[in-house]
Amino acid sequence: MSEKRVAPIEKRTLPATFYRSRRLYEHSLDAIFARTWQWLTDSGSYPEEGAVAPVTLLPGALNEPLLLVAGARGESPSCLSNVCTHRGAILVEHGCQAKSLRCRYHGRRFSLDGSYQSAPGFEESVNFPQKQDHLSSLKLEHWGPFAFASLDPAFAFSELMGHMSERLSFLDLDRLVFKPELSNDYDINAHWALYVDNYLEGLHIPFVHPSLTSVLDLKSYRTELFQYGNLQLGVAAGKGDCFDLPPHSQDYGQEIGAYYYWLFPNMMFNFYPWGLSLNIVSPQGHDRTRVHFRTYVLDETRMGSYSPADIKQTEMEDEDVVHLVQKGIQSRLYQSGRYAPTWEQGVQQFHQLMARLMDTELGID
Ligand code: FES
Ligand SMILES: [Fe+2]
Repeated sequence: MSEKRVAPIEKRTLPATFYRSRRLYEHSLDAIFARTWQWLTDSGSYPEEGAVAPVTLLPGALNEPLLLVAGARGESPSCLSNVCTHRGAILVEHGCQAKSLRCRYHGRRFSLDGSYQSAPGFEESVNFPQKQDHLSSLKLEHWGPFAFASLDPAFAFSELMGHMSERLSFLDLDRLVFKPELSNDYDINAHWALYVDNYLEGLHIPFVHPSLTSVLDLKSYRTELFQYGNLQLGVAAGKGDCFDLPPHSQDYGQEIGAYYYWLFPNMMFNFYPWGLSLNIVSPQGHDRTRVHFRTYVLDETRMGSYSPADIKQTEMEDEDVVHLVQKGIQSRLYQSGRYAPTWEQGVQQFHQLMARLMDTELGID
């Protein structure tokens, strides 16, 4: 997979006004979040055979009501709009067995493939039904046990996932087991992009994360960019745990403690020798963000360094500095900064991708 080059790193960071603007935040929902691939659910939450289950795409930001319809035995579910095409009522409020869908407002019926069946009161209608009277359907994409959807994708799912799929092809993703008791949601009073900015650079690690510093070899820490995301490679220091890599892995022979994958704009797949900490950054407003930390275990016996308890500690340290920045960027004396060469390439790439989709300069190149 070829790596993407970014413009020379001398450009300035995003202006503080970007993070303060309600207008740009609202615009980003349509321009970025509706046009990118979003994590929807995992196979453990699929409806049972013969059942349907409502699900919301990116709660708090897109809030798109969708419906999963169970596939035939062994097949993944299909995905429909969960909004009645008559006057827009939510069709299915709770998961249930269903042979067809009936809106409880005025009784319109749809089959499980979303096609219109009948509607009381519409017997005299002319030119009815038309295309828009059927339920819209959305193509689900899959990677391991995860399902993703996009309302209007600006790029193909394979362009998003290709690098990570190839690099981590040695992992048996179907063996990932979700651990609700080790998973948490965090509410942060800051703009979502400040949280992502912080994630994308390792420059702060020695200053903010003393225990993480002791298990990583920061001299070997590096960022690799690809088209719609990047990888921060955490090389283990002397006492840190590392992956047992097979000879066909391109990292064979290196002591890799963590693969930190960020997928544009808001998904982080953090792989450790024990499994995956999946972070979904969910904007809740221009100054509020919810981050879902979902823990999936591959090998419980490898829970040494980077255990969920250590990850929680790191998260608290990160939230603390993100709050510092959220306060600081309200200043009328601060406009923007400079990117640190090498260390902040990922941050610059993130800003460039946002600017491209928002079709505006945002004050950067
Ligand atoms: S809104 Fe569904 S039938 Fe009227
Ligand atoms: Fe951090």
